[in-house]
Amino acid sequence: MDIDNHYSGQMDEDALLAQLRERYPRGPTVYQLAPIDQLHIGGIKASEKLLLQLQEIQPKKILEVGSGVGGLMRLISTHIQEKDASVEITGIDITHRFNTLNSSISQLFKKDSAIRVATCDAQQLPFADNSFDCIIFQHSLLNIPNTEHCLQECRRVLDSNGNLLLHEVLQGPHPEQMRYPVPWARAAEQSHLITLTELTNLLTSSGFTLDHTDHWSEEALAWRKRQANKETNPENRSTDRIPPISPTQILGDDFNKMAPNLIANLSSGSIEVWQLSCRLRTA
Ligand SMILES: C[S@@+](CC[C@H](N)C(=O)[O-])C[C@H]1O[C@@H](n2cnc3c(N)ncnc32)[C@H](O)[C@@H]1O
Repeated sequence: MDIDNHYSGQMDEDALLAQLRERYPRGPTVYQLAPIDQLHIGGIKASEKLLLQLQEIQPKKILEVGSGVGGLMRLISTHIQEKDASVEITGIDITHRFNTLNSSISQLFKKDSAIRVATCDAQQLPFADNSFDCIIFQHSLLNIPNTEHCLQECRRVLDSNGNLLLHEVLQGPHPEQMRYPVPWARAAEQSHLITLTELTNLLTSSGFTLDHTDHWSEEALAWRKRQANKETNPENRSTDRIPPISPTQILGDDFNKMAPNLIANLSSGSIEVWQLSCRLRTA
């Protein structure tokens, strides 16, 4: 199965948009959208950590690679672009139906949304050299077969001294324990995890200086266990006429196997969650 089909093959975007319009007639908030547009371990709290970093470095032209349904982009738009309208936010994703859903949700969220999205492969970015001063990956490098090529494309489109922020799933010390399906892959052929050492070596050889690394696996595991408790506890079942939105509306019923597998994989050390910040070295 190709990546595009893995992510959008089970999705009914018309039903999802109708449900959002009915449930949130004044437009949903970033928190209400989180179950379907924060498609990474750690949810909106993880995106808020990236937001804090962006608030420190104050970029003007941001590219998110693998922007999915757009949760991080709308968070950045709400907190950064609303204060400084000159900040530009562009998202690219290989899954075209995610991009159209992202744009439709942004219209519901804020009518004059200034978020731009494009469908393309991260290994071949359709931008001129030096187009951005910050690039973000949030759980998207994990699907990309050629990390080195992708990082070289980032170097090409990034200004000198530009920032690269990554919140990624990496291969842990026990890859032999890996269980599928997981949210980014129904089978091993869709998952392209590398180790922290491999990633830092590739970053260095691609011209980046690593400023900071944070190991989040423990926090990620605690978060996923809390989510599982909310998702499976009958007391949390909504009795609302219009049901709350759920990740199953994006990834299908397989999400009910993916979520426990994340807990198993984090617990066994087959995967780890890291946040890295890097800068492009000047020539
Ligand atoms: C796990 S999802 C994360 C989406 C989003 N970053 C988030 O955190 O909600 C991974 C995303 O990467 C995208 N993706 C995978 N391979 C890609 C590629 N080669 N080029 C661009 N996007 C890609 C997928 O379509 C998907 O939207």
